Parts: sequence; C-alpha cells; structure tokens
Amino acid sequence: MKILVIGSGAREHAIVKALLRTGTEREQIVCAPGNEGIAQEVEVKPEIVATDRLEVVKLALEEAVDLVVIGPEAPLVAGVADALRAQGIAVFGPSQEAAALEGSKQFAKEIMAAADIPTGMAYECSTMSQVESAMAQLGAPYVVKADGLAAGKGVIVTSNREEALEHAKKFIDDGVLVEEFLDGQEVSLFFLSDGKHVMPLSPAQDYKRAFDNDEGPNTGGMGAYSPLPWLPEGFVEEITHRVAQPTIDELYRRGTEFVGLLYCGLIITSRGVKVIEFNARFGDPETQVVLKRLNNDLADLLMRSATGKLDIGPEATFSSDCAVTVVLASEGYPVTSAPVREVTGIASAEEIDGVEVCKASATGRVLSVVASGATFQEARTLAYEGMSRIQLQGGHFRHDIALKVVN
Ligand code: AMP
Ligand code: GLY
Repeated sequence: MKILVIGSGAREHAIVKALLRTGTEREQIVCAPGNEGIAQEVEVKPEIVATDRLEVVKLALEEAVDLVVIGPEAPLVAGVADALRAQGIAVFGPSQEAAALEGSKQFAKEIMAAADIPTGMAYECSTMSQVESAMAQLGAPYVVKADGLAAGKGVIVTSNREEALEHAKKFIDDGVLVEEFLDGQEVSLFFLSDGKHVMPLSPAQDYKRAFDNDEGPNTGGMGAYSPLPWLPEGFVEEITHRVAQPTIDELYRRGTEFVGLLYCGLIITSRGVKVIEFNARFGDPETQVVLKRLNNDLADLLMRSATGKLDIGPEATFSSDCAVTVVLASEGYPVTSAPVREVTGIASAEEIDGVEVCKASATGRVLSVVASGATFQEARTLAYEGMSRIQLQGGHFRHDIALKVVN
C-alpha cells in the first residue's frame, strides 16, 4: 500500500515514524511538502503547497498512491480531501464541510447542541457590543475565541477585561465566541472515524501555555504525555458514547460524513466532562506520544477509516509504556517570530535509546523531543536528556512536562 502524507510539521513527522515503526516500508511513503527531518526518512516533495488541491491531486495520481493522509487543518478546510475523493482516491481526512467542525467554532457548537453533547455555554458575537454584553453576562475570567482557524492563537483566557476586548476586536469581523470559563484537567482524546463508526486512541494531555506552571500565552502546544494514569475508569467509553459517536452520527444525519480523525478537546469540570473544542485532525504534539505507543499497523487503521471498514478488523491497542514529548520553540514564540537559526545536536539526542526527534518548522515550534519508558520518570528523564543535547540560540521549552504524573 502506497501512502501520501500531506503536511510539514512534527505531527506529520510522527505519523511517518509511526507508519515506519508499524510495518510500512519507507519506499511506500511519500510526504508533501515534508521537512528536512522527514526527508531523512522518506521521499519528500518540498515544492508542493499542501492547500493547493490541484497540486496535491496531481501528485497523488502521479505517485499512484492508495491512500492520502492529510495532517494539518488548513488543507482540510481548503477542500483538499474532496478534490482527492473526486478522483476516487482513498483519503484519511474529512471533507471541507465536515472539517468545519474545527474551522468554525459556531458550527461545532451547532452540532453539539443538536446532538446534546456537553459543552460550555457560549454567545456568538458579530459586534463588539455583543461581546461586551456576553462578557458582562458570563463574568470573569473571560474566554474569547475567534470563530475561524487561528493556528492556536485564536483563544484568550484572561481576567483582564481590556485584554479580552482587545483580543475580540482582532477577530470580530469574522465572528467571535464568548464562552463560560471552565475549570479542570484537560484531556485530548482522538478517535478514528470512517463516517459511521469511531475507534478511540489512547488519551493524552497537552500543555497549552508557553511557560512553566501554565504561565504565559496559549500556544499550539508545548508538550504532552500519554497515557493519563489519573483518568477515572470508563472515561474513554463514556466519551465514545457521550461525545464522539453522537458527533459523527449527527454529521452523518446531515449528509456530512466525517472520515478522518476526530480530536475531542475535553475538560473535566466539577460538573462533568465538557467539550472545549473539536479538531478535524491529529493534535500536535499529542500525536507524538499517542502514536509512539500504538501497537497496530497504522496504515491498516488509516485505510480502514478511509474506506468505511473501521468495524472490520482489530481495535487500536497501545503499549503500557509511558511517552513524553517536549517541544522546543524559537525565541519569542508565540508572540514574535525569530530569525531562522541553526539547530544543532539532534543526532546526538537521537543516539539515546528510546528518544526520537520530530522536526517541524525553522521558527515557531521547531521540533519535539519524544521519549518513552517503563515509567513517566524514565520517559521524562530521557526526553529532557535529549533536549539538553540540542542547541538553538534563544530557543525555549517547558521544564514541567509530565512532572505531575511522576509521583
Ligand atoms: P481551544 O483552541 O478552544 O482548544 O482553546 C485553547 C485553550 O484555551 C484550551 O486548551 C484551554 O486551555 C483554554 N480554553 C478554551 N476554552 C476554555 C474555557 N471555556 N474555559 C477555560 N479554558 C478554556
Ligand atoms: N495541541 C493542540 C492541537 O493540536 O490543536
């Protein structure tokens, strides 16, 4: 089976590594556009623009691939999956319409309301005076969300009213959601979906804030670990039946089959679990730790999702190992962007047994160091030992990833 992976981030690097680890030959994988790290493992096509439907379709036909796996949200929202399906190519990744679950927070709220899925109360606003009255209704801390895609920078959680209004102003032209503040542990739970059936992967926790102790601005994610030993018994089953299956069913009922990865961003509040967001693709950096622990043939799972056969064949199972990933970001991330600077020491980090490095971009989130071990203590020690061997002028990373599960 020949597979084309679309994307150029650490997530796509992790997907490629997981395919290789679980039985796909390197000659059977092409990645476009890929990045320099992915290029060391499989063939890449750096000239391809991931959101360009024609280019991606042309490449998929030229390479005669059996399956296309779309990593990031932008090509999904741009309709790349639709263009591929129109050519009869199997795709892991939802249609443009179904990807609105991530691309429009308003659409996500509409689906959740229709399917009776627990989520925070929210007001949809298109004027600043609506934002002000919603904030007055809900009180501080304020949660203000851009309606559309914003590369992890669309959400602010703050008790500072002026700051919340400032944030809303930036996005108000395309719509803003003011949501009730929800307090509790966050869980990222991924489901494979073939449009009718869902299959849960292993839960992970992401660290969204830029600095230690959850300080600083929200980012795309600064680190993650999996599994979550503190989750209540039956959690995954509960979310399958209360959240993932009803969401997929509601979309199916509307003629908007969701084929691909349903990312449930959840928060465990004192009043039960609530959905804070849906994404239409694998999370980054959670994928690095979730797929690191996958036992199955990943290509088989993705192909079965893409072709409506998720219910035929084995369920996803995961090793009992603990996995930790720590993200290295460039100077100023996520507020300012640094010049491109050389990163050294990656090879040395990867010499450590149990450590791998997933490359991303030259600036922003630059790479993820991923490690696994029999305990979180072991995995953390390996991940940070790996990180200590990597140099990037001005680079920063969090020091407290998975610290709370060590004891
Ligand atoms: P989102 O892009 O919707 O996942 O939001 C990014 C991050 O903002 C989440 O991972 C949470 O840490 C935080 N967040 C989002 N919505 C809420 C909420 N209603 N209450 C508290 N924190 C939130
Ligand atoms: N790590 C959060 C995300 O992928 O959206």
